[in-house]
Amino acid sequence: SHLNAVILGEALASEEDDLVFPSHDFSRQALIPSPQKVSFFPFFFLLPPSISLSLWNTYLEMYKRSIEDPAGFWSDIASQFYWKQRWQDHVYSENLDVRNGNVKIEWFKGGITNICYNCLDRNIEAGLADKIALYWEANEPGIDASLTYSQLLQRVCQLANYLKAIGVKKGDAVIVYLPMLLELPITMLACARIGAVHSVVFAGFSSESLAQRIVDCKPKAVITCNAVKRGPKTINLKDIVDAALVESAKDGVSVDVCLTYENQLAMKRQDTKWQEGRDIWWEDVVPKYPTTCDVVWVDAEDPLFLLYTSGSTGKPKGVLHTTGGYMVYTATTFKYAFDYKPNDVYWCTADCGWITGHSYVTYGPMLNGAKIVLFEGAPNYPHPGRCWDIVDKYKVTIFYTAPTLVRSLMRDGDEHVKRFSRKSLRVLGSVGEPINPSAWRWFFNVVGDSRCPISDTWWQTETGGFMITPLPGAWPQKPGSATFPFFGVQPVIVDEKGVEIEGECSGYLCVKSSWPGAFRTLYGDHERYETTYFKPFPGYYFTGDGCSRDKDGYHWLTGRVDDVINVSGHRIGTAEVESALVSHPQCAEAAVVGVEHEIKGQGIYAFVTLVEGVSYSEELRKSLILTVRNQIGAFAAPDKIHWAPGLPKTRSGKIMRRILRKIASRQLDELGDTSTLAEPGVVDQLIALADC
Ligand code: WTA
Repeated sequence: SHLNAVILGEALASEEDDLVFPSHDFSRQALIPSPQKVSFFPFFFLLPPSISLSLWNTYLEMYKRSIEDPAGFWSDIASQFYWKQRWQDHVYSENLDVRNGNVKIEWFKGGITNICYNCLDRNIEAGLADKIALYWEANEPGIDASLTYSQLLQRVCQLANYLKAIGVKKGDAVIVYLPMLLELPITMLACARIGAVHSVVFAGFSSESLAQRIVDCKPKAVITCNAVKRGPKTINLKDIVDAALVESAKDGVSVDVCLTYENQLAMKRQDTKWQEGRDIWWEDVVPKYPTTCDVVWVDAEDPLFLLYTSGSTGKPKGVLHTTGGYMVYTATTFKYAFDYKPNDVYWCTADCGWITGHSYVTYGPMLNGAKIVLFEGAPNYPHPGRCWDIVDKYKVTIFYTAPTLVRSLMRDGDEHVKRFSRKSLRVLGSVGEPINPSAWRWFFNVVGDSRCPISDTWWQTETGGFMITPLPGAWPQKPGSATFPFFGVQPVIVDEKGVEIEGECSGYLCVKSSWPGAFRTLYGDHERYETTYFKPFPGYYFTGDGCSRDKDGYHWLTGRVDDVINVSGHRIGTAEVESALVSHPQCAEAAVVGVEHEIKGQGIYAFVTLVEGVSYSEELRKSLILTVRNQIGAFAAPDKIHWAPGLPKTRSGKIMRRILRKIASRQLDELGDTSTLAEPGVVDQLIALADC
C-alpha cells in the first residue's frame, strides 16, 4: 500500500505537510536519486503523477523487485561478497505462520562463508589494506589511536589464534564485557573468524545481569578489561566480572578463562584484583600469537552472535543472529540508508554492547570498507561540544546517534555546536526511539546547518538491520517520521484482531515475510520466540511497536505497545525492574510504568508497596534504587518511587497498569473506569501520595 502512495506521487503533492526536501547537491550525488529536480519547478505538485512517478523510479523499481523476486534481488547483492561455496538451490525458505508448523527462517542455506573474512581479508584484497578502518578517540581529549584494515586484521588474527589455543571452537559462546576500546570490535571479529559465537554484554550491566547471561549461554571464556574511564568517573569492570563469575558458579556454570585487557589509561595492573589460573592479561598472551590465522568457514545459517535484550516478561531473551543473511543485510542497509561513499568517515555513538553497535559500528560499515570512528567516552565530556570537536577532528561525514543525545545537546544550547565547523557532515542518523519533531528540527537546522538529510532508522535487535528508514536524497522527509520501508521489507499495520489495515491508519506494526537480517530464534527457547513474536498476529512477525501511516504512506512509530520501556533508547522490561525491586527485603510488591521524560524519552516510574510495618523513608528510597542498579545496571534506575499502600487491581488480581500510567503522568482526569477494581479506594490513596 505504501507503494501506491509513492506511485501516485501523493507524497510529493501534499502541500500542507511539512516536507523537508533533500538539497539539490545532495540528491545529485545520492545512490538512490531523488525527485528533487522537480521540486525546483515551482509548481512541481501540479505535474501529473506520471511525471513524478518516473522520478521515483530507482527506489520503486528496486523495492518492487525486492518484494516480487526476493531471491533474485538478494542473491544479486549477496554475490558481491566472498563465498567459499555458493548457497544451494533456495536463496531462502521461510515459515512465519505458526498455524503451518514451526517458525523457520533460512537465507543462503548451504552457502559457506565467513563474515570476518568479508569485513577484512576481502577488503584488503580489494586494495584497502592501508585505509583506516578504525579511529579510536579516548575519553580524554588528545588521546587517540587508529588501525588500518591490514593492522586490524593482524590484531584480529592474534586474538583468534589465542582463542583457538585455549580451546574455543566453532559454535562455542564467548562473553564479551568490554567498553568502547579497539579491543571490542577486535574481539567480535576474532570470534567470528573462528566460528565462535560472541555475546557482547553492555559494560553498564551489573554483575547480576552479567551472571544471568553467563549462566544462559555457558561461555568458554569471558573477555573484559580491568577498568574504564567514562567522563570523570573510573569504573572497575573487573570487579563486576569477578562478582558475576562467583554468581554464575553458584548456578553451576564456571568459566575457565577470563582474558583481561589492561586498560592503562584507567587502572594499572597492580591495582586489579586477580585470580591466578583463571585470569590472564591480554597483553601477556595475545601479542605472542601469529598475525595470520586461517578462517573457519561456516554455513550461512551458523550462528554469528547472541545478544540479550529485554522482553515484557521474565528473563532477558538471547536474540540469535546467523551469518549469511545478517552479513548481506547489515552491509546493504548501511550503504543505502547512509548513502555511503568510499571517502566517508562514519561515526555512530552507540556502544557495541547494543545491536546498533553490532550492525552499525562493526559489521555494516566494515563490510563496506568504511572509516569508522570509535569513541570511548561520554558525549558531553569534558564539555558539551565534544561531539562536534570529534566531528571536526576526524572530518566525520556521517553521524549516527540517538534522540536522547540530540535532546540533551539541544538543551545545552546552540553555542556549543556553532563553535565548531561541522562542514564535513553530510548525512545524519537517528535510532532508538521516535525522534520528536522539535529535536529533529534542531538536529537538522543547527547540527546539520539545514544541509544534511536525517535517516531516522526504525529497527530492532531482532530485525538485525534497518526496516523502515529514509534513503537520504531519495524522497522528502517529514520530521519525526521514519518514512518508508527498506528493500525487501513489507511492513503491515494490523488492528487488534490481526486484520491488516490499509491507507491512512494506525495500529500494531507487523512484518509480512522474512528479510535476510531477521533473527532466527531465541537462544535455547524457540517456543518463546514463536509465542512472543509470531503468535500474537498469526502469519506475521509482530514488532511490539505501534505505528500509524499517514495519507502519503509515511510511517510514524508511536512506541512500544507491550510492557517494555524505552529509556534513552535502551529497552527495559517493566517486569525486570519489578523483580529487582521485590527482591529488596522491605518491598512487598512493585509495579513499574514508563512516563514521558524530557531527555530520556521515557523515564522509569515505580509504584512500591512496602512490607507490613515498614515505613517510607528517604533512605529506603535510595536503597530500593540501589537494588535496581545492582541487579540490572545504572541505566535502569527508577526516576521516581511512588509509595503505594495498595495497587489498583482487578478482582482477578491483575494490576491495572493503564490507571498507573495515568497517575504517573498526572493525567488524573483521564483515569477512566475504576469501578472494576477490587478496591477502588486505592486510586485516591495513590493520588494523595503522588508527591511524597
Ligand atoms: C524503538 C534498537 C521509533 C522501537 C535499534 C523498537 C524506534 C525498539 C526507532 C528496539 C526509531 C528504535 N523510531 N522507534 N527510529 N528505533 N525504536 O532492540 O520501540 O534496542 O521496538 O533496537 O526501539 O530497540 P532495540
